[in-house]
Amino acid sequence: MILRVHNLCKSYYRGKLEIPALKNVSLDISEGEFVSIIGKSGSGKSTLLNLIGGLDTASSGNIFFRDQDISAMSRKELARHRRFSVGMIFQSFNLIPSRTALENISLALTFGGVPRRQRKARAEDVIRSVGLGHRIDHKPTELSGGEAQRIAIARALANNPAMVLADEPTGNLDSVTSSEIIDLLQELNQKKGISILMITHDQETASRISNKVIRLVDGSIANEQGKTSMP
Ligand SMILES: Nc1ncnc2c1ncn2[C@@H]1O[C@H](COP(=O)(O)OP(=O)(O)OP(=O)(O)O)[C@@H](O)[C@H]1O
Ligand SMILES: [Mg+2]
Repeated sequence: MILRVHNLCKSYYRGKLEIPALKNVSLDISEGEFVSIIGKSGSGKSTLLNLIGGLDTASSGNIFFRDQDISAMSRKELARHRRFSVGMIFQSFNLIPSRTALENISLALTFGGVPRRQRKARAEDVIRSVGLGHRIDHKPTELSGGEAQRIAIARALANNPAMVLADEPTGNLDSVTSSEIIDLLQELNQKKGISILMITHDQETASRISNKVIRLVDGSIANEQGKTSMP
């Protein structure tokens, strides 16, 4: 098992008002699985992904990544988790606008502790692996949406994570470009054995490519019939 989420709860607070975003969410992902999360806007999808990615902390419950409890990690261990265990991809790419593709990847390698001398070659390799060797010196504004997302994927892969977390990676792309990005993620999953957890609004694609589709309804996991599962 690469990921085990157990009775996870997350509430946000606006003053005294509690907003329960996740309620007793439990799920398992095996090594090498491709799992999709679907659900309406506001159902807690991004909240769940951000907790797994170590970007935010849970209110209660556990997240085990290869038997290590993320919820019990120190800040330093959490930083390691973000750098080496998972790679994140977002709808809006989140590349640094003033830096070229090469520089964006090099920066991730710097955080990953790759020595300066090796960075350029490593960055070029990973950019070529997503098919963008000819766009290495382009800045994000000089890339198409699909190309920018490929660079973001290259950045997510830079430090060889075991799992990629993707939050609506095709949300800003047209349908042709979307299916190219989905193909790339599927290839990473099948050829490199990277486990993938992807949020999508595209139910058809989710059921076509995933080992498992998880539906969130109001912060809880529902089965395919829409019933809320027991905690
Ligand atoms: N920082 C925050 N402070 C307060 N409430 C928040 C915060 N972030 C999210 N929420 C609330 O938590 C709930 C879940 O939000 P989340 O972003 O996880 O939804 P989502 O399923 O990703 O939606 P979408 O499909 O629109 O991206 C929503 O009701 C949202 O308003
Ligand atoms: Mg979201």
